Amino acid sequence: MTKALPAVVVLISGRGSNLQSLIRAEQQGALHAQFSAVISNRPDAGGLLFAKESGIETDVVDHTQYQDRDQYDQALIDAIDRHKPQLVILAGFMRILTPAFVRHYAGRLINIHPSLLPLFKGLHTHQQALDAGATSHGASVHFVTEELDGGPAFLQATVPVKPEDNAETLAARVLQQEHRLYPAAVEMITQGEIHLVDDIVHFNQTPLHAPLQLDS
Ligand code: GRF
Repeated sequence: MTKALPAVVVLISGRGSNLQSLIRAEQQGALHAQFSAVISNRPDAGGLLFAKESGIETDVVDHTQYQDRDQYDQALIDAIDRHKPQLVILAGFMRILTPAFVRHYAGRLINIHPSLLPLFKGLHTHQQALDAGATSHGASVHFVTEELDGGPAFLQATVPVKPEDNAETLAARVLQQEHRLYPAAVEMITQGEIHLVDDIVHFNQTPLHAPLQLDS
């Protein structure tokens, strides 16, 4: 009997270009996962259409319909857990998550952040990099912990910052790399190479002291 593919649920809020890169990687055989559902907090998220066209179940848990963060996150947990995922992938999911939500998915919740963490947490990361005079920038995939953008990163991609860059040109260069980075990072998890043990990332059973670099 062949082994069942790990079930994943992807959470999005918008255009979903990272979601598309993940689905394409799966279609091309570079990612071994079963996309059980794509869930958005916004009914108009562009990525929902792509998921539907790819034959993946979609759901909307609209945050405007809930009184507070706790109620919303519980509804989101209910929607996710119907699919019994082994991994929950945040792909441009623009919500701050409650500690209860993060604890519920401890060790199986990951995010992609457009900076070389721990640099430039939060929003407007490309402008932050320019303002800091950074000569390189990039994106990180990390496990989600209770600290915003603070969970341990395990895979990063780096791009140069060019003198003529503005936030848009830099964002576009980073996004191109994100589309390679996220499928590679998810595949490392689905292949069992990466685990979180006591908030420390382990790569092939050994503690990882610094994030791995894509292409190195
Ligand atoms: C990406 O830059 C990602 O790193 C950040 O939000 C953006 C989402 O873009 N977390 P998309 O919806 O995947 O196109």
